[in-house]
Amino acid sequence: MSYYAVVSPGLEKLACQELLEKFPGTNVRISHGGLEIDLDLQSGFVLNHTLKIPTRILFRLMQAKVRDLPKLYKKVKALDWRPFYIQAPILEVIHVSAHSSRLFDERKIKKATKDAIEDFFKGTQAKKVDTERLKDIVKDHCPALYLRFKDDELTLSIDTSGDRLDRRGKRSWIGMAPLRETYAHACLLALKEKIEIDAPLCDPMSGSGVFAREALDWNKNNNDRYFSYQSFPITKEVQFPAESETPWKNIIAVESEAKTFEALKHNLKDEVRCIQANALENLEISPGSILIANPPYGIRLKLDNPVAFLNHVVEKLMSYQPKALALLIPKDIKINRRYELLLEFSNGGIPVKLIYFKG
Ligand SMILES: C[S@@+](CC[C@H](N)C(=O)[O-])C[C@H]1O[C@@H](n2cnc3c(N)ncnc32)[C@H](O)[C@@H]1O
Repeated sequence: MSYYAVVSPGLEKLACQELLEKFPGTNVRISHGGLEIDLDLQSGFVLNHTLKIPTRILFRLMQAKVRDLPKLYKKVKALDWRPFYIQAPILEVIHVSAHSSRLFDERKIKKATKDAIEDFFKGTQAKKVDTERLKDIVKDHCPALYLRFKDDELTLSIDTSGDRLDRRGKRSWIGMAPLRETYAHACLLALKEKIEIDAPLCDPMSGSGVFAREALDWNKNNNDRYFSYQSFPITKEVQFPAESETPWKNIIAVESEAKTFEALKHNLKDEVRCIQANALENLEISPGSILIANPPYGIRLKLDNPVAFLNHVVEKLMSYQPKALALLIPKDIKINRRYELLLEFSNGGIPVKLIYFKG
């Protein structure tokens, strides 16, 4: 049996590393945009709570050659759906993607799938206890189905996550141009691979505080939101791994803009030192600190000359004599100081790079 962790392209290797650190010895294969993970159904639910880089966790129900709608209907109807649903899912949660396959009409594929599951439940009814227990939950959290056709091979998966996993259920006030938690976590892990994290961590341009929040919750299981698998009839209690302290030390979050600073303080409570200051003037941070930031790019937050601005940001932040500086900036911005490229991915459609400067 296998799971598929959907991962933003560019972050697959780090996601794999995170998985193996948290679940040593797991069989895993990296593919473009995800990880195939060998785990049985019940054991895999916990991935939603522990992994911080994937976008969602799918459970694979079936893989088969399917070239026409009658075959699709037959294959789908033949599955035992009672572990996952108390009734057929609504069309809106059935997602289809098709590449070089004879079946490609999304509307027809969705309908055949829904009809097949409906007909399955006409023949084999859900248990009454499950229906009673879950009927209200399923109204708001009907688990999604994903059908992917590639070269006539269908992979049918059910979503165990629900909302995207970057929605941790914690950072309730969001500033301008927020960075997804999954991306922030990957950036921190890439930096952690590069250096000993034995110095204070500071984000000089924190916005609503995603880097600080991720560093703080590094080894915490996420139990602050609902996950789709919780509405599967078959779900048993999940065994959580033990939590340990974060390896990041003395986390500091800086933000200049007054309203965003309020959001920052709200999101980080009293757990992190928050400073309202302009990081490009005289900021008091100890030399030897570790700096990581997602500065304004000039795309969503307007800037006249982003190249000059970002080069100025680099020089100013390096003048604080950090141990390391990592910056997430657009891929096409030329930076004059020598750096090492740690990561490349797409941030909300903008190709970005995480660059590292040694202090
Ligand atoms: C792209 S946003 C960061 C978003 C953040 N990663 C998040 O997820 O919320 C950049 C932030 O840097 C702040 N900023 C810009 N210039 C600054 C400066 N000189 N000093 C401190 N903060 C600054 C902006 O107000 C903005 O909140």
